[in-house]
Amino acid sequence: MPTDSQFQHLLIEDRDGVRVVTINRPDKLNALNHAVLTELRDAFRAIADDASVRAVVLRGAGEKAFVAGADIAELAALSPTQARDFSRHGQRMMRSIELLGKPVIAMIQGYALGGGMELAMSCHLRIAADNAKLGQPEINLGVLPGFGGTQRLLRLAGRGATLELCLTGTPIGAQRAYELGIVNRVVAAAQIEADTFALAAQLASAAPQALRGILDAVQVGGECGLDAGLEFETQAFAVCTSSNDMREGTRAFLERRKPVFVGN
Ligand code: COA
Repeated sequence: MPTDSQFQHLLIEDRDGVRVVTINRPDKLNALNHAVLTELRDAFRAIADDASVRAVVLRGAGEKAFVAGADIAELAALSPTQARDFSRHGQRMMRSIELLGKPVIAMIQGYALGGGMELAMSCHLRIAADNAKLGQPEINLGVLPGFGGTQRLLRLAGRGATLELCLTGTPIGAQRAYELGIVNRVVAAAQIEADTFALAAQLASAAPQALRGILDAVQVGGECGLDAGLEFETQAFAVCTSSNDMREGTRAFLERRKPVFVGN
């Protein structure tokens, strides 16, 4: 497990198969500068390589913000080529979360703006506190979302909502984000930690190969035609039958007991 001392801006903790990654710049509302993006890239690389990690919770330090966006102080000084590299750096890191093959839950308290909303959308599930505010306010800075916001929001919530959020820059509350399909659940702020970790524990005890098959099939299916998606599902389904966890899951059902999935 990577230790906190490896990172300047992240806190890392393991809880029974769940890795908790906390972006720790609360004085800047956890804004994403180049260094934070690099550390997140490295943290998720380590997660990909560590079979003991079965689910991930990504959160921001403090109660005020998940992440209030890309770091505007850094953004203000970028040349076009630096901006292109910054955008790619963020996009690649977020793509690596999306393609991780293990479920990642974004726990959203307070602001998830700009790059923060984009980061949350690259996660597989989003739980928002009822005080959360989500938005793509880049237009107010004279730019557009550069870490995948125009693309992932389009896929999550459709063209109308995407254009409204990106063109106006006006943030929406957690309940509206739920109605638009952007977040999976809205919970009381006091309850968010308990609910998020209960969900993470449930995912961490599920069969990893089946989780991966679902994540990959949904990802591929969102990017290709139905027949190709169905074929991918067939292959992923067939591969699962080679796992000890599949034998355990079916046997446990027949023996009327709870399965214990070991991860192979
Ligand atoms: N980049 C860099 N710094 C940021 C930041 C960002 N995206 N968002 C907040 N901060 C910093 C502020 O500059 C301030 O730092 P300081 O205390 O050294 O001056 C600190 O975080 C606290 O923010 P502040 O604006 O004082 O808090 P607030 O409660 O008054 O307002 C927000 C909160 C989220 C409404 C406001 O910070 C904001 O609009 N942030 C930018 C959101 C944005 O446009 N994101 C997209 C960026 S592409």
